[in-house]
Amino acid sequence: MNQHYPVFTFSCLPLFFHFNIEVFVLPVSLLCVYASILTLVPSTFFSRFSFMSAWVIDQYGTNEVLRVSDEIMMPTINLASEVLIKVEAASLNPLDISMRGGYGATLLKLRRDPMSVMQNDTEFPLILGRDVSGVVVECGSQVTHFAPGDEVWAAVPPWKQGSLAEYLTLTEYEVSHKPKSLSHTEAASVPYVATTALSALVNAAGLCSDNCSDKRVLITGGSGGVGTFSIQLLKAWGAHVTVTCAGNAEGLVRGLGADEVVDYTAGDVAAQLEATEKYDVVLDNVGGVDTERWALGLLRPWSGAKYVTLVSPLLHSTDAAGLVEGLGRSGCSLHSKALQNLLSRGVFYRWGFYAPDGPALDEVSALVDAGKLLPVVQACFPFSQVPQAFQRVEQGHARGKTVISVGGQRDPLSEQEEGCPVEDGGRHARAQTAHS
Ligand SMILES: NC(=O)c1ccc[n+]([C@@H]2O[C@H](COP(=O)([O-])OP(=O)(O)OC[C@H]3O[C@@H](n4cnc5c(N)ncnc54)[C@H](OP(=O)(O)O)[C@@H]3O)[C@@H](O)[C@H]2O)c1
Repeated sequence: MNQHYPVFTFSCLPLFFHFNIEVFVLPVSLLCVYASILTLVPSTFFSRFSFMSAWVIDQYGTNEVLRVSDEIMMPTINLASEVLIKVEAASLNPLDISMRGGYGATLLKLRRDPMSVMQNDTEFPLILGRDVSGVVVECGSQVTHFAPGDEVWAAVPPWKQGSLAEYLTLTEYEVSHKPKSLSHTEAASVPYVATTALSALVNAAGLCSDNCSDKRVLITGGSGGVGTFSIQLLKAWGAHVTVTCAGNAEGLVRGLGADEVVDYTAGDVAAQLEATEKYDVVLDNVGGVDTERWALGLLRPWSGAKYVTLVSPLLHSTDAAGLVEGLGRSGCSLHSKALQNLLSRGVFYRWGFYAPDGPALDEVSALVDAGKLLPVVQACFPFSQVPQAFQRVEQGHARGKTVISVGGQRDPLSEQEEGCPVEDGGRHARAQTAHS
């Protein structure tokens, strides 16, 4: 970040008297003026002309579109509320795989440039990566909660340039102080799944730390990023948690605190769940018509119970049918399902979405430092192996998160595997021990 610019000094001037004064006096004067300006202009101005390393895509497609470059323009602080962060670690989510292929492009483009005023009417080169753990290097003039040198973590909104880069900017409202007890690679596994889970469980399902002690919650797809975080959060809040996952993930989710586990690979999952008591909330991380149908049937009828799915058709619809028609179709689908379920059995049907929320991450940070939430890192890749990390996530069967070490800092996780993923048994063992 610190810029060092050549400054022309007046000590050079005597040399020029050996030459024709008329030829040299004008350029020398200009150079002196230029040098004076250089010393007065703030360093942020020059970072516009500085470059950083980043993984970018220049078009949508498969893994081949990922390209690493040392010549990506460094971000600068454009708003008084922004902070510039040096990225130490990032992580991948299923959204990164989808966005690489163009998912959500229509709506995200609108969010980036609502009035279509950007001269360069393209999102490329696009930097993916929705989680960051790093260090603040510069603050806008109105930033009050952060200072250069602070260690922070954040979930990067999908309409902003991502964390697979050396630097990024976010507003201070999107950022939070990183838990002291976590390394950067551990911390980077949490923010996006945490803000998504909090948005779904708090805003859509109405749960919080004070009202969970008598609640029964079912989490489908409990072994992935959102599931492993949600289990721990709900147990910290005192809820009874049932999880669906594959049989080989039972140890993981039980280690994180799940009370009941249903193996969806061992026969009819709906029939197995019907044998259990009804639920107050279902958090659906799997989606699909079938899951939606039986999950709604598992809610306590006429009790205000809530079904919240994270797998909504909104972005697919706007990509396929355009903005107006896609939004219209999605709105109709949501309202008709919500009305039908409310009138027929007195349960709420809702879509959950990620929402940027720095203050919510502050609460997560406190829970992490209190030992109530653990990161669940399945694999950690170095920055040079971002395409391999994408391949890993694309294979599915996540057991927690896939992390990327971006900064040069040595970390126990990256030391452990040195360029190859830490597979099952890495952080899981620690999670199991801590919760058993
Ligand atoms: N709307 C939003 O803003 C938002 C935000 C975040 C995530 N999401 C979505 O929410 C979903 C979950 O996200 P995530 O990050 O947790 O994904 P993830 O890390 O890929 O985890 C998905 C988990 O579900 C398991 N699974 C797959 N099929 C299953 C089934 N039929 N029953 C039970 N478990 C099953 C997978 O393991 P196995 O295949 O081995 O069983 C995996 O562990 C994804 O679809 C994601 O796109 C939406």
